[in-house]
Amino acid sequence: MQPLARSLACALIVLSIARAQACATARVVSFGKATRWADGWASFLLSDRPISFFPARGVNLVAINASTEEVIFARSYKKAPDQLKKDLQDVALDTVVLVALKGGADQESLQALSLVHASLFPVLAEGEGYAFIAGRGGVPITEDLGRVADATS
Ligand SMILES: *[C@@H]1O[C@H](CO)[C@@H](O)[C@H](O)[C@H]1NC(C)=O
Repeated sequence: MQPLARSLACALIVLSIARAQACATARVVSFGKATRWADGWASFLLSDRPISFFPARGVNLVAINASTEEVIFARSYKKAPDQLKKDLQDVALDTVVLVALKGGADQESLQALSLVHASLFPVLAEGEGYAFIAGRGGVPITEDLGRVADATS
């Protein structure tokens, strides 16, 4: 697979400077309640390796530095829409935002995702998984929902 096609952090950087290097892929997987995980399940991977963060119920957010591909922060928001909004507003432009739902969330927290131009959350059904990746400047890269939601940059 072409590094450019599979990489979000690098696609955004390398397009302009044509640096030949292996780039990280970001992947977000969110399993709905109807899967074998009755409470849902969420997982964040960078270059196929899970990041060291254990998602909790609700919206989970991981911010990645697009240049260094390092995790800046990883947080869970259980009925904390104001904190989620603040964090989404505060991320720097060179940040890649990964979002996974685990088990469900309140409407206000889902609504907050419009700050990074997520668009599918209004049609999210109860118990479904939801995965979203936004690139630098909040440009949506990929978004998925369903029994198993799988978004790859
Ligand atoms: C990303 O890393 C670069 C290089 O270390 C740094 O200059 C920049 O401020 C970082 N950006 C964020 C949002 O952490």
